[in-house]
Amino acid sequence: MPTITVTNLSKRFGDKAAVDNLSFELGEHEFLVLVGPSGCGKTTTLRMLAGLEPVSSGSIRFGEREVSAIRPRDRDIAMVFQDYAVFPHLTVFENIAYGLRSRRAPRALIAERVPRAATMFRIDHLLKRKPRQLSGGERQRVALARAMVRDATVYLYDEPLSNLDAQLRHQARDDIMTLHQQQQRPSIYVTHDQAEAMAMGDRIAVMKDGQLMQVGSGSELYERPQNLFVAFFIGTPSINMFEVELRADGERISAVGSAFTLGLPPELQARVAQHIGKRVTLGVRPEDMHVPKKAPFAVSAENTINGLVNVVEPLATGSSVYLSTLEDKPHDFIATFKVRLPASYLNKEIPLAINMQKIHLFDGETEQAII
Ligand SMILES: Nc1ncnc2c1ncn2[C@@H]1O[C@H](COP(=O)(O)OP(=O)(O)O)[C@@H](O)[C@H]1O
Ligand SMILES: [Mg+2]
Repeated sequence: MPTITVTNLSKRFGDKAAVDNLSFELGEHEFLVLVGPSGCGKTTTLRMLAGLEPVSSGSIRFGEREVSAIRPRDRDIAMVFQDYAVFPHLTVFENIAYGLRSRRAPRALIAERVPRAATMFRIDHLLKRKPRQLSGGERQRVALARAMVRDATVYLYDEPLSNLDAQLRHQARDDIMTLHQQQQRPSIYVTHDQAEAMAMGDRIAVMKDGQLMQVGSGSELYERPQNLFVAFFIGTPSINMFEVELRADGERISAVGSAFTLGLPPELQARVAQHIGKRVTLGVRPEDMHVPKKAPFAVSAENTINGLVNVVEPLATGSSVYLSTLEDKPHDFIATFKVRLPASYLNKEIPLAINMQKIHLFDGETEQAII
């Protein structure tokens, strides 16, 4: 199986770039998740890979072979669409067999593969039915089975689970991953849901406005986002952002916000040196804010932000606490605790100890990560 190499791929509709200079590579057994908000160019990217949309510029290679000008059917791609169009007049069996028949696969192969794919997706008892006699989840599984019976070179999924309820979605996700582990074909899975992306991808590519923001493993994106967008997009609840100015006092560098002053760890000094006196955005993940007596580090005024507790939301394990800074124009932020915070904290002012080893800083203008 080939690797897939996308280089400087662009698609313009009129003067708008739906996909803007996209480059990435996909290993031969890899499952890449493409994630980003609605309208960022995910579907357009997949359609160019499948050959359903002509490219404006750039190159798509399967192995050594340039495919960007090759007809869709010669690219040998299996694609599952968002609206999982199944043919209403065909039975489940014929729907699943469709791709094989249109490629003139031998009868014996069809007779063997269709029931096997149907069994895999737990629709083997429905093979004689028509789509209107199926639930939404069953129809979705027909569309997945149809894509899967073929030995395609590449598998593309365009938000195939967004019309399913949460439980079916989990099940279908597992089905797709199981199948991928069996087939080991290069696959690209599109979703707008960062939690789904984190759950499924070997690697995740984050897009915004047609451009690639970062590619990496889930933990890389979470722990080392290269820019503000990725930091904010990955993780629930989202990372907290505070506008601060970096100030130097001899060796010591502080992040000065309107309601707090935090001392930066000495090892960060070299990397922030160019940003002294400038406005930067401080990012703190909700789980890196602790009740002082539970903090796994020494707490002082140098690593504390005070907040007013507005809402305490109990979670299965622990709690999410919605706070605001103590100032004229309060700034909202969220802390998540592994312990259940008693409701008596409501409307109280409490100190939050910040794990300064885990903070993020972004350039105020370019929004690129400084550390
Ligand atoms: N056929 C088209 N003609 C004009 N604009 C389009 C067309 N298809 C998509 N777009 C625009 O391109 C951008 C990316 O769309 P799309 O790839 O569908 O995004 P996503 O799948 O990430 O939601 C959007 O602004 C969309 O309106
Ligand atoms: Mg789309």
